[in-house]
Amino acid sequence: MSPSGGSPDRLRVAVVGATGLVGRTIIEILEERQFPLAALDAVASADSEGTPIEFGSRLLRVRALETYDFSVVDLAFFALETGSSELHVPRAIAAGCCVIDNSRVYRMDPAVPLIVPEVNLSALAVTPAPRLIANPNCSSIPLAIVLRCLDDLAGLVRVDLATYQAVSGAGRKGIEILARESRNRLSGQDMTPDPLFAMVPIAFNVIPQIDDFESSGYTREEMKIVRELRKILDRPDLEVNPTAVRVPVFFGHAAAVHAELGRPLDPGLLREALAAIPAVRVHDHPGAGGYPTPQVDATRHDEVFVGRIRTDLTRPNDLNFWVVSDNVRKGAALNAVQIGECLLARWPVRHLGGQPAGAPGPPEL
Ligand SMILES: NC(=O)c1ccc[n+]([C@@H]2O[C@H](COP(=O)([O-])OP(=O)(O)OC[C@H]3O[C@@H](n4cnc5c(N)ncnc54)[C@H](OP(=O)(O)O)[C@@H]3O)[C@@H](O)[C@H]2O)c1
Repeated sequence: MSPSGGSPDRLRVAVVGATGLVGRTIIEILEERQFPLAALDAVASADSEGTPIEFGSRLLRVRALETYDFSVVDLAFFALETGSSELHVPRAIAAGCCVIDNSRVYRMDPAVPLIVPEVNLSALAVTPAPRLIANPNCSSIPLAIVLRCLDDLAGLVRVDLATYQAVSGAGRKGIEILARESRNRLSGQDMTPDPLFAMVPIAFNVIPQIDDFESSGYTREEMKIVRELRKILDRPDLEVNPTAVRVPVFFGHAAAVHAELGRPLDPGLLREALAAIPAVRVHDHPGAGGYPTPQVDATRHDEVFVGRIRTDLTRPNDLNFWVVSDNVRKGAALNAVQIGECLLARWPVRHLGGQPAGAPGPPEL
């Protein structure tokens, strides 16, 4: 019997962190894209055990991670915080399951592919099939797609950028905090700042800190962008100079980018090249509203939106532009599901899930 209980082209899948922003969106996208599923399990903390989660016309009941047996699935999408990923990803792999992990834990491990399907699918061209693939940070994914195009066209030398990151990048709790602080502020009540946003109010504010500081004076979020872009683009020499900023927006990360190139590049040529990439939408018409914004363009859309493309005023080799995308979809869940689709296109199901399906698995779909 195949690992998928007699369905040779379909996978038995678990979504771990299924009640969170990324996990719930992975489940939605598996349904939207008709991912070839033999079975699907929703897994989260013991507190959520039994919680119903919609999957098409069906209801999945959440299973508790602590006691979940990964030998009954071929592929697990993990959408947990770092500590829980560190504990349970090795357990899933030991049970013979292939893992696509959304946390930062494994991204910089040289043995673990860090994949943006539009950019570096070749990193998956290894034998045997990788057991663990890391999904990049929500700012790194859209930037990598645009920067790959620039590098191919005119040789990327250096990137200076500032991100404008939505509160949903910090999970469900980020959304709750912005909603609560906004209500309190508008009704004249005190705003008690939350440690999630460094004890600084996020409502009606802008915070130049995401995650903890490293000894260099850069934050961990900024260094994720530096290190991940170098790995994804396979450009260890690339100069990247980021400032990561949290803004009071619910969904959609933006970035203002200044790229130094090896030679001049006409903005029109860049627009054309970007427009030819299916994952990118160019929205660039100088004038009111002629550029993408997180709420109007990015939220609940799959594409990476690019606008404000223009040559630097004094340096002909340099371009400025603006990138916007949905941090929960292309920045996390969609990219992870696309990696799953690529795995399935490359390897037969039996090479992904390691264990025979002797034990009873999740309900067949
Ligand atoms: N949000 C984004 O834009 C984004 C983008 C890229 C990457 N990521 C990464 O994706 C991961 C998930 O982020 P998120 O935004 O989805 O977070 P979230 O909304 O806070 O959801 C967290 C999920 O983890 C589960 N969980 C927490 N503690 C657990 C435990 N001890 N055992 C089992 N499950 C536990 C929660 O289950 P309960 O409901 O049962 O507590 C929930 O399903 C994080 O590593 C994050 O850095 C997020």
